[in-house]
Amino acid sequence: MKKTVAIIFGGESSEYDVSCVSAANVAENINPDLFETVLVGITKDGKWWVFNGSTDDMRNHIWDTKQSLLTPAVISPCKAHHGIITFDGANGSFNIIHIDIVFPVLHGKNGEDGTMQGLLELSGIPYVGCNTYASAVSMDKAATKTICDEAGIPVVPFITATKNCNQSLLVQKCEDRYSYPVFVKPANAGSSVGITKAKNKQELIKGIELAFKHDSKLLIEPNIVGREIEVAVYGNQKPFASVCGEIVPNSDFYDYETKYISDAADCIAPASLDEATANNIRTLAIKVYNALGCSGFSRVDFFLTEDGAYLNEINTIPGFTPISMYPKLMACAGINYSDLITKLLSLAEGEE
Ligand SMILES: Nc1ncnc2c1ncn2[C@@H]1O[C@H](COP(=O)(O)OP(=O)(O)O)[C@@H](O)[C@H]1O
Ligand SMILES: [Mg+2]
Repeated sequence: MKKTVAIIFGGESSEYDVSCVSAANVAENINPDLFETVLVGITKDGKWWVFNGSTDDMRNHIWDTKQSLLTPAVISPCKAHHGIITFDGANGSFNIIHIDIVFPVLHGKNGEDGTMQGLLELSGIPYVGCNTYASAVSMDKAATKTICDEAGIPVVPFITATKNCNQSLLVQKCEDRYSYPVFVKPANAGSSVGITKAKNKQELIKGIELAFKHDSKLLIEPNIVGREIEVAVYGNQKPFASVCGEIVPNSDFYDYETKYISDAADCIAPASLDEATANNIRTLAIKVYNALGCSGFSRVDFFLTEDGAYLNEINTIPGFTPISMYPKLMACAGINYSDLITKLLSLAEGEE
């Protein structure tokens, strides 16, 4: 019998657009012989709908304007429901759609940070990706690096501070420790939103203000001169690491514009690396995955410098369009996009 998969997309994060595109591709490529799908869209202001329209409407970000194709819906936290409650506005009645597995194709805030995962834990429905704890610590770049440093993994050095800190002391501490340029970033954000490469004190102060607009906690890091190397990992007890990929930003850094608008960056898979270096980074990626308690899948991002590889960050729901780095790296391992979705759904159901 076919299993019913709920694909959740959109959401309140700055990565709403990417999520809609990733989810449209997942919906189009999920194996129809094995799975039925229910599309659950969350608008930018947090309204939930079951969407009965086309993936093109998702990709073009107009799905939520198609009133006749939308039914108000929520994932029920009640384990007896094991699914989605839809509401019929006209007579106040409701229905329950049984769901076997959820694939939250959501990035960033309220999608990748443990909040959605907490709801899914309550619902009792198996879901793709990391659990609540691993999602939350992996979303927080400072927590990620503190845990990984403790586990003996080389990490990009950082200073962290919260909104109530003394900002002039923070600037002083940064100048004592690092020389310009430095990177200022919100602890919890993604897609380069709120990140500044500060070349002097004035830019640093501005960067701090900007980062605090996105989160109550920030990181300041030295500018790492090196290559950006990424590894795709999947698995539960026995994680598998792909070959290494490389991002060549072709701009000052891999910012939002480069990532999603201008398409200026090159995602090279596999990266041109000697075997020992590549294997070392793959081993580190698994170490990171285990240290953070990840399961399902994640993409682990490093800087490769003359002194070796340093962890930059981890993404527990990486970009998932067919041209995104994660599926590209898995394709190098001989796993096509459709089979990759099947694999992630099996892992959600407890496969090792
Ligand atoms: N310490 C650093 N040194 C050099 N470049 C950096 C540093 N931190 C971030 N970057 C650049 O900024 C980009 C985005 O930063 P990242 O920490 O990966 O945040 P995000 O979660 O938004 O992807 C990176 O891909 C890289 O190009
Ligand atoms: Mg990144």
